[in-house]
Amino acid sequence: MTKALPTCTASKVVLAAVMLACSTAAFAEAPGEATYSANCKSCHGATGTPSAGMAKMMNIKPAAEYKTTAEEQFNSVKNGKEKMKPFAGKLTDAQIKEAVAYFRTLK
Ligand code: HEC
Repeated sequence: MTKALPTCTASKVVLAAVMLACSTAAFAEAPGEATYSANCKSCHGATGTPSAGMAKMMNIKPAAEYKTTAEEQFNSVKNGKEKMKPFAGKLTDAQIKEAVAYFRTLK
């Protein structure tokens, strides 16, 4: 009976370590990255720089070259801009906000 105790304590330590590792991993991945990959990457590129063909065809610049504010960009994504179709109804405001925030971290 008393022998069960150390095992129990050890597994708690292991569990704590696993939880710590998980929360660190979640922190490393920017929120919005998944939303961006699924909805924006096809035009804007994985790194925020569109492929040469896409840049020419769609008239898209690399992420860092947009000097618009987060709010202006949110509105552009929500309501559409030039050849970018509106995401209103497709994504929630929170998802758009997240994806724009992620886009703004790309250089
Ligand atoms: C069909 C291709 C396409 C997709 C998909 C797309 N975009 Fe765009 N995006 C464009 C085009 C075209 C523009 C306008 C070009 C410009 O303003 O230079 C643009 C412009 C932008 C701008 C600049 C707007 C501004 O007001 O300065 C941001 C920010 C942006 N997109 C973010 C996103 C995000 C976030 C997503 C995903 C939710 C997304 N885009 C999906 C094509 C696309």
